[in-house]
Amino acid sequence: MFKILNLFMFKLIILSFILITFPHTSNPIKSDEISMEEVIIKKRKSIFSKNYSTAKKVQSLASKGDFEKAKNLMMEMSENYINLIPLFPDNTRKGFKTEALPAIWEKKEEFNDLMKKSSDDMKKLASIIESTDNVKTALNQMMWGNCKTCHSKFRAPH
Ligand code: HEC
Repeated sequence: MFKILNLFMFKLIILSFILITFPHTSNPIKSDEISMEEVIIKKRKSIFSKNYSTAKKVQSLASKGDFEKAKNLMMEMSENYINLIPLFPDNTRKGFKTEALPAIWEKKEEFNDLMKKSSDDMKKLASIIESTDNVKTALNQMMWGNCKTCHSKFRAPH
């Protein structure tokens, strides 16, 4: 009886030692957990960053008269705006360095309409860019203008 108890105590001490020394490895799944909120916020930020670098390429290609490549990138941006719409669910208002303002959820329809307008404007831009007299004005009105309009209302100053 004494021997059995001793063995039990011995195992208990070893187990406590393992749990104290390796608190994370004892539950590897929990310590690696990433929340859905984090995935969504990081996803939308990466699409916005991508659109920014694409917009700069569009500007330089169109200014050089390389309209075919510029038009492909315009269509890519147009699609990205549509992909952004579902990336603002209610549980992603805060955290993970988001710059999204509460206005997005208070005026959801206005925000989504502006995303759709920005998407449509990129398609329009692709259809007129070759025939327009002023490439720069067209880019400002149909591409850069929408960034400013939306950021001034829906993105925190950065
Ligand atoms: C309809 C609204 C809307 C339009 C249009 C829009 N943005 Fe944004 N943008 C946002 C919001 C909201 C955020 C903040 C997202 C976050 O932090 O969760 C953002 C964030 C960004 C960021 C920061 C991304 C990061 O890594 O934190 C960049 C860069 C950016 N936008 C560039 C642009 C450019 C360039 C355009 C135009 C070509 C544009 N955006 C058009 C709403 C918009």
